[in-house]
Amino acid sequence: MPGSGNAPFLRPDLPDLDFWVGKKVGFGTPSLKRYKQELKTPTQPLSSWITPNFEKDTIPDPDGNDIIAGTNIEAAKTIKEIFGEKAFNYAKPVSLIRELVRQSTSEDDLILDFFAGSATTAQAVMEVNAADQGGRRFIMVSSSEATASEPDKNLCRDVTAERIRRLNAVDTGKFAELSAEFAYLRTREIDFDALNAELDPAEAWTALEAMHGLPLTVYDVKRGWNEHGREDITLILADRTDEELLARLQDLAAARANAFVYSWTPGQLKTALGSVDFEIRPVRETLVKRFQQ
Ligand SMILES: C[S@@+](CC[C@H](N)C(=O)[O-])C[C@H]1O[C@@H](n2cnc3c(N)ncnc32)[C@H](O)[C@@H]1O
Repeated sequence: MPGSGNAPFLRPDLPDLDFWVGKKVGFGTPSLKRYKQELKTPTQPLSSWITPNFEKDTIPDPDGNDIIAGTNIEAAKTIKEIFGEKAFNYAKPVSLIRELVRQSTSEDDLILDFFAGSATTAQAVMEVNAADQGGRRFIMVSSSEATASEPDKNLCRDVTAERIRRLNAVDTGKFAELSAEFAYLRTREIDFDALNAELDPAEAWTALEAMHGLPLTVYDVKRGWNEHGREDITLILADRTDEELLARLQDLAAARANAFVYSWTPGQLKTALGSVDFEIRPVRETLVKRFQQ
């Protein structure tokens, strides 16, 4: 610390020492030194310095915090390798997004890209997971890009989701290690007031499974009710009541199973169950409450 003779101007016991950071005091300018063990998060600060791949030999510490990334030409090449054709223009290079994911996330993080395009981010997450055995998850959102002249275009289904499907399917070569379970979902807008009339059971099923943290499964519309019983909780959506459902609920009640049962008309189902003590939850109120949070 700068001082005059033996008496320093700044001593650790002085109040508001931060005030002097960056200011000229005596013969110098104090700066703030922070030690890694004092940081609140273990993640490295993100580097915003991007070095092109072809200049990577110029970096003094290749294991440091620099981002070494390819170009859009690399991106176009990757798209061609996966799709066999130029399925998407202006994709980002995987190396760039991979480095951003690697530097800014931990192994169990959830990565959201709401302009996902060709799902470069999904591949980047799969690559980082493959490298460190992490369990990062991702949500890729993209529009269909349908227009009046191309009403059936669905970029999200045919490129965004398809890239993930293809990477999962490849089991040789440089993509062999990449895998990610995923579900392809479409969204649409529904008025809260019209939820009972407009939401179909398959949509309610997906929302309820997601709400309970269960892996998403396809709802069997041929059945009056569906059950998800593969995890440590049981989820039932009762679209219609039949004898088989009543028997199943009796069994679950007797076994004191950890079960969540939803119905559009919980009162009616409860009446049909008679003395069987089972909580029946309303689909509509549950989802309205959840989506309004
Ligand atoms: C520049 S691209 C993203 C490129 C991506 N990083 C890649 O590497 O492929 C932006 C994407 O966002 C999509 N998009 C545009 N408007 C959108 C919206 N409102 N919601 C979701 N996606 C949208 C476009 O269809 C386009 O595919």
